[in-house]
Amino acid sequence: MSTTPNAPETVALYDAFAADYDRRFDSEPLRRIYEQLGWERVAALLPPEPDGIVDVGCGTGRTVERLLSLGHSVTGIEPSGAMQEVLKAKLTGRASFTLLPQTMEAAEIEPGRAGAVLAMGSLQYAPDPDAMMRRFVEWVRPGGLVCVMVDSSIALTFELLRLDRPDEAVLRLEEQRGVFTYAGRRSGLHLFDADQIRGVLNRAGLVHIDACGILISVSALGRGPCEEAIRADEAAFLATERRLQTFPALANAGKHLLAWGYRPKG
Ligand SMILES: C[S@@+](CC[C@H](N)C(=O)[O-])C[C@H]1O[C@@H](n2cnc3c(N)ncnc32)[C@H](O)[C@@H]1O
Repeated sequence: MSTTPNAPETVALYDAFAADYDRRFDSEPLRRIYEQLGWERVAALLPPEPDGIVDVGCGTGRTVERLLSLGHSVTGIEPSGAMQEVLKAKLTGRASFTLLPQTMEAAEIEPGRAGAVLAMGSLQYAPDPDAMMRRFVEWVRPGGLVCVMVDSSIALTFELLRLDRPDEAVLRLEEQRGVFTYAGRRSGLHLFDADQIRGVLNRAGLVHIDACGILISVSALGRGPCEEAIRADEAAFLATERRLQTFPALANAGKHLLAWGYRPKG
């Protein structure tokens, strides 16, 4: 079965996921916490003054709402019709939001204007992440931020080993690709380790590149115990994660990798 990302398969999966997407992110401890930890880091990197932000694969608009509340203008790119419907129900009439209902590959964005391009959980679905990253860099102005969140191949390998699926654990590392499934739908996706995602940013010409792991405890404890730890004391869990994030050597242990860099000013 192919693990190469394929837009029709990915869109069909997110069409099926859309109605349940927000409930899952609001109620499932691991999704809620990784989204919060990711947003904290992104918010600290954003331009300090209201600016134009491109949100690639904006889904149901969860990040869009946060960006608008900070005063930014947002262009969201989202190819799934069902995700668009959920987003429109929340954001119709918001003057500072523009939806491009298409894939990131097809999207036409005015070059050199955006203060930041964010791709939270979407770059991994691009057939060619390097080519797409080069376009993200074209979209931001000199000095602008490009920030992506992707899935860690190392954290997935640890999870599969823990689940006693060693062949799949090694295959995922060899291929650097995985599969996301929902309600019988499946989509291939790219996986990265910290050096690989840094390499994507570096080859596209970004500078001051950095990365951190998001949900590092999952690689040590497993999903179930992490969920229990979050339910028992969410503030303590978050505090530990924030401290773990500061160690670059632990980035690969994060279930997700946040990576960012800046278009050179000169
Ligand atoms: C994991 S969800 C993340 C949604 C949102 N960024 C968030 O953080 O809640 C991935 C999103 O990327 C979108 N997507 C998948 N392939 C895409 C592509 N080629 N171009 C743009 N978006 C894509 C999906 O439809 C889905 O909404």
